[in-house]
Parts: sequence; C-alpha cells; structure tokens
Amino acid sequence: MAAAAKGVFRSTPTSGLDCESATGNGVLPSGMPRGIDGLEVDLLAQEVGYLRDREPVYAQLLPLLHRLLAGDFGARLAAAWANREVHAVYERPLMLLAALRYDALSDPDAHPLQAALAEYPPRVDAVSEPAVTAAVAPERTRFWQVVRERAVQTNETTRAVTWLWPAALLASAGERRAIALVDIGTSAGLNLTADGLPPLWHDAAGAPIAVAPRPELALRIGFDIAPLDVREPDAARWLRACVWPSDTQRLARLEQSIACFTAAATGAAAPRLVACTLPEVPVRLDALPGESLIVCMQSIVRDYLPAAERNLYEAEMRALLLRRPARATLWAELEMDPERATSQENSATLRVRYAAEPDALRELTLARTHPHPKRLFVDAAAVAVLQRDFAAS
Ligand SMILES: C[S@@+](CC[C@H](N)C(=O)[O-])C[C@H]1O[C@@H](n2cnc3c(N)ncnc32)[C@H](O)[C@@H]1O
Repeated sequence: MAAAAKGVFRSTPTSGLDCESATGNGVLPSGMPRGIDGLEVDLLAQEVGYLRDREPVYAQLLPLLHRLLAGDFGARLAAAWANREVHAVYERPLMLLAALRYDALSDPDAHPLQAALAEYPPRVDAVSEPAVTAAVAPERTRFWQVVRERAVQTNETTRAVTWLWPAALLASAGERRAIALVDIGTSAGLNLTADGLPPLWHDAAGAPIAVAPRPELALRIGFDIAPLDVREPDAARWLRACVWPSDTQRLARLEQSIACFTAAATGAAAPRLVACTLPEVPVRLDALPGESLIVCMQSIVRDYLPAAERNLYEAEMRALLLRRPARATLWAELEMDPERATSQENSATLRVRYAAEPDALRELTLARTHPHPKRLFVDAAAVAVLQRDFAAS
C-alpha cells in the first residue's frame, strides 16, 4: 500500500497519523508475522524512531522492552500473542506502550512506571530497567490481560468534520430531511455526538469551515467490530491509554468528547453502538426508516480491512447507494491517500459518494486534509456539484 514512487509522500505515525493506523510507511509486506516473530527488530525500528522527538518516555521504554524480550517477558508475550497477526512495524511496540500506560493509569499509586506514564509531564527519569521489569512481571495481571485481549484503538473527534461539513453544505443547499447518522468503524461512537463539541476547522486561507446550521438528526448509530462503551470506566481508560502521555491537546479533546457522548447517551436520541464487521453494515442500513436521509461517515477504517473484506464492503455500499432512491444516502469518508499527498497536511481525502440520479453514482473529493483534520484544502467545484445535486432533491 505504501507509495513506491520517488517523491511520493509516505505517511508515518511520525507525522500525526493514528498510532494504530496500518497505513503508509511501516506496513509489513505480505507473509504477515505472528506472535513475537521479528518483534526484536520492530522495537528498535526506524519507523518507531519518531518517538524520540514526540514522546521521550516511550523512546526510553522501547530499548528496555527489547532487552527484556530474551527472558521470561518474551516467553509470556509469545504465548499471549500466539494467534495474533501483525500488520505494521509499529503495531506491537505501540500496543505494549499503551498496555503499560493503561496499567499505570489504573493503578496510579503503586505502578512502577507511574511517574513516567500516568503523571503530567511524564518523567523520563522514572524509566529504568528495574521499573520496566516490575511493570511487565507476571503479577501485573491487568497489563497481561490487556496485552492478550485488546488492540490499540483511538477515536478522534477532529474527524467529525467528515459528516458535519457535508451536512451543513446540504442544509445550505436547501436539504430539509432529518438525517439518520451512521458512523462506520465508530470505535467509541464519539463522532456521533461531536456536534456538541467546539468546531475547529478552517480552510486553506484560515476562514472557518461552516458546520452549521444542519438538518436535524433523527438517529445516531455506530458500527464497529469492537465498539467501546465509554460509560464503562475501563473502556474510557483504554482510550486514554492509547493517547500518548505528553499529548495534552488530544487528551483534552478526548475528555470533552467522552463527556459529550455520556451526556447524550441518556437522551431520547441516544447514540446506539452495534458490534458488526464492515461488510455487514450495508444490509443493516436497509432497515433504517425510509424517509430519513442516511448520512454515513467512515474515518480511518478502510485500511484495517484485508483486501477481500474491503472490496466486498465497498461493493455492498455502492449497491446500497444505488438501491435506495437517488440522493437518499450520502456516504462520506475520510481515508488516507498517500499517493496524491505532498505532505502530512494533505495526506487524507474527504470524499462523498451518492446516487445523483437512479443508476448514476457520483463520487466527489470535497477536500484534502490531515488525518487529524483542522485545515481543509477545499475543492470548491466539487462542493458546488454536491450542493447542486441536493438542491434538486
Ligand atoms: C483507527 S480506528 C478509527 C475510529 C474512528 N472512525 C475514528 O476516526 O476515530 C479504526 C476502527 O475500525 C474498527 N475496525 C477495524 N476493522 C474492522 C472491521 N473489519 N469491521 C468493523 N470495524 C473494524 C476498529 O475496531 C477501530 O475502532
């Protein structure tokens, strides 16, 4: 998937991509390793070298984990991950770091790396070989359970622009139908209630991107293979643990988003989270009320799917757009597009698809942006086509 052509920008987690994203540089070639095969290389790999600048505490931890791999820690890890496939160089290192941080956040008074992983600012001098050895000891059962059972998972509400902006564009084109909002690959569903968060998007000239007014929302539903319910303290803690300890901006937005979701979760139009895989989503959408305009958003999910599953999902989504009435369903996605990017700032594409007429599928790239969008490079002509089509509905 990584672009091979000379001069083509290659995204790396260095440049702000989700730490768990299997996109761009660092993606392993075919013949995926399993368990701890090759982990000794990954822990010291260049692809995770960016940690040195961005998260010094993590940079300090990796060589120590590497050193421990030859002993009991490695044997336990091999057993815990015996059936786990590895898709990217940074996947296992970041999973270990998130699991350590989760355990430290869970046990702030007694964890051996508490000052390094659960305090702000994180203290690099609190990282030592004895502390790391104690943090991965067999009796740290919480750490080991997370290592066995979870995968790094984040939920970024900067990406809510994927639905907020198109919804506002439709409203200004005259759209009055209520929206059934569907978040595909929703994680904790935080983008379903991100209309309650401060807007933070601008165009290339610095003018605010208008995300209101919008049509009213009739329902909010999120699908994910492993949805997280942030009303459970453990799930919320896992989301926090997957954000790096120094990233106070992201942590602050996460706290706001969790509060917003929790407040909405008791109301009449409470968001609903459903566990299912992506290819199962289109058929479930057939059951939604016919009179609503279905707006699907999907952000940084596609590249998690094996090729066959992705092809099936995308074919089923296109079929859904065409079997519903024209302009009754809008599928908006924010996904990585490294081949056409010149920097991290424009490495993701905000694209919409819909049936403009019966049997006529329209695909428009409305903007290019960062995978954590704040600044949008808008294609005004594409915006005009979208608004013209929906003005007619
Ligand atoms: C990088 S997260 C993005 C979450 C959210 N869309 C966002 O932008 O913050 C990717 C999400 O896709 C989900 N996912 C991965 N593979 C999936 C599949 N085959 N079916 C459904 N969801 C999947 C993961 O559980 C995870 O919550």
